[in-house]
Amino acid sequence: MSRKKLIAANWKMQKTIVGAKTFAERLKTSVKKDEPYDMVVFPPFFALPVTAEILGGSPVAVGAQDLFWENDGAYTGEVSAGMVIEAGGTYVIVGHSERRHMIGETNEVVGKKLRAAIGGGLTPVLCVGEKIADREAGRAETFVEEQLEAALAGFLGGDVERIVVAYEPVWAIGTGRTATPQDAVAMHRFIRGAIANRFGVDAADRLRVLYGGSVKPQNAGSLLRETEIDGALVGGASLKAEEFAAIATART
Ligand code: PGA
Repeated sequence: MSRKKLIAANWKMQKTIVGAKTFAERLKTSVKKDEPYDMVVFPPFFALPVTAEILGGSPVAVGAQDLFWENDGAYTGEVSAGMVIEAGGTYVIVGHSERRHMIGETNEVVGKKLRAAIGGGLTPVLCVGEKIADREAGRAETFVEEQLEAALAGFLGGDVERIVVAYEPVWAIGTGRTATPQDAVAMHRFIRGAIANRFGVDAADRLRVLYGGSVKPQNAGSLLRETEIDGALVGGASLKAEEFAAIATART
């Protein structure tokens, strides 16, 4: 089946309100209503409302970079699914490698956040990906399978259709070193196969699996032309609206 590509901008802890406004205004003017791909922008939480307001009515969705699994309460610094929605978000990133490896999020925490995102009506982008040592030791697939299994424990096929998976090898994030299209395709096939085994072929067929890790306009075309690669999660090259828009159109 043909899946619509999703091009996602993860700004991480970058941009001011002014920078977010400038980006959103520029992107809005360059994206037409009937583009053959979907787009989503993940600003830092404080800039989510203004970004969502400007992009409101455009085909570009907005999301949060993280969420907490409770709805409300005494959880200093955290943000719930309901808060993301009230701020104008419809997507949320869950289990980004920087949160897993710098902030210590475990597979169990990622699973709780994933359930909270689905329960709260958001579309989660679940990030998985191995470190270089795992790849070199031939354990990349086992590692990613464990991350998927832990995050999706207790899920049903219907839930899985509501998520997006982003394969982001840790060694490719922010390093300028991209996975080759062949390596990315092999892992995307593996991920789709693992989902088919657990949740059925239909759910696996509908699942969008994005690639992330040093995607830029120069390499996006060769990745996005692959039918197994359903889009890109872009960090550094998503900070300028023109560069991000060029990634979306790179495959044509
Ligand atoms: P990068 O980041 O494009 O800067 O490598 C990707 C990501 O972390 O999502």
